[in-house]
Amino acid sequence: MSRQRMIEVSGLTKTFRSKKRIGIFKSQMNEVKALKGVSFHVDRGEIFGLLGPNGAGKTTLIKILTTLLLPTSGTAKVNGYGLDQDKNIKASIGAMLMGERGLYWKLTGRENLEYFGALYHVPKKLLEDRIAELSDLLELGDFMDRNVESYSSGMKMKMVFARALINDAPILMLDEPTNTLDVKEARRLRKIVKECNENENKTIIYCTHVMQEADELCHRVGIIDHGQIIAIDDPQELKDDLQDTDILSVEGTIPDKARLAVESLSEIISAKILVKQKNNGSKEEKFYLNIVCKDSHQSLPIIISTLSENGAVIRNIDKRETTLEDVFVNITGRSLMDDTRQGVSIN
Ligand SMILES: Nc1ncnc2c1ncn2[C@@H]1O[C@H](COP(=O)(O)OP(=O)(O)OP(=O)(O)O)[C@@H](O)[C@H]1O
Ligand SMILES: [Mg+2]
Repeated sequence: MSRQRMIEVSGLTKTFRSKKRIGIFKSQMNEVKALKGVSFHVDRGEIFGLLGPNGAGKTTLIKILTTLLLPTSGTAKVNGYGLDQDKNIKASIGAMLMGERGLYWKLTGRENLEYFGALYHVPKKLLEDRIAELSDLLELGDFMDRNVESYSSGMKMKMVFARALINDAPILMLDEPTNTLDVKEARRLRKIVKECNENENKTIIYCTHVMQEADELCHRVGIIDHGQIIAIDDPQELKDDLQDTDILSVEGTIPDKARLAVESLSEIISAKILVKQKNNGSKEEKFYLNIVCKDSHQSLPIIISTLSENGAVIRNIDKRETTLEDVFVNITGRSLMDDTRQGVSIN
């Protein structure tokens, strides 16, 4: 049986041009190439992850696919419709974009869902039923009848997610949907995304800069960096491509001098400081040195001596499983955290 292409993107580019003031009466044109020829497809029933650091071009891409922005060049089809068929595309997707700004803050949650449901021409009785179901599913409870402006950021994100589901569209486009959710709520939202995919065969584009999220959730992942897709595959395949490398995780006090000394060793592919939140769900962060090398068994003695000679105090060294973060480091030579300074633990 041939697969049904739900999204097809071919050679999309987007250049933003704006005037930048360089003096009281002087300005110059500023150009940002946000997308530099992006091509990929998503089949029906797939969860496709768009993974990349801040500024990679994820939101720009989603805005083009939801017809909020015009591309500079290239083409795309969503549910078989070209980007000029914006009404048909809008009816085909539920989108979670622009975070909490996707709601009317002066209205209650219920009024928001009624408003957006009506925009999609959902019949009144069906809309009432869906609102009740979403309220249950996302545990919105009393918040349904409170003005959105009184919500916490996390609660607003849940309501934006409810908004994306209200028209029961075959395609969901979710831009960093777990931003501002705590660990427990983020896990719950990912579970619902998975259920939407498994039980209702929804096709999903899931943008994130959190490697573990993409790994856990997505059937295929496109890693995007500086406006280009630099790798695209099943997460396991991407990690298997790094089979001949080892990853060491060093905990301790590691001055940058020590990191640089290790990174300059011929045995080492990269040595980056990564930061992630502690597993207990607190906001506390933990720093460690992530070393990618060819043969950890052989390299370990020189790594330890180089670190020590350069003032590092080592508390623990672990050899760990390859992650999508390592795939990113291997291709770009940078850590995702270099760009984002964020990390999230997935439990
Ligand atoms: N309206 C705009 N005008 C000018 N530049 C823009 C505009 N929107 C986005 N950009 C630039 O385009 C690039 C891509 O931005 P985009 O928001 O798509 O990245 P992103 O991958 O979604 O990042 P993040 O993880 O921070 O959300 C960035 O350099 C950004 O500054
Ligand atoms: Mg974004």
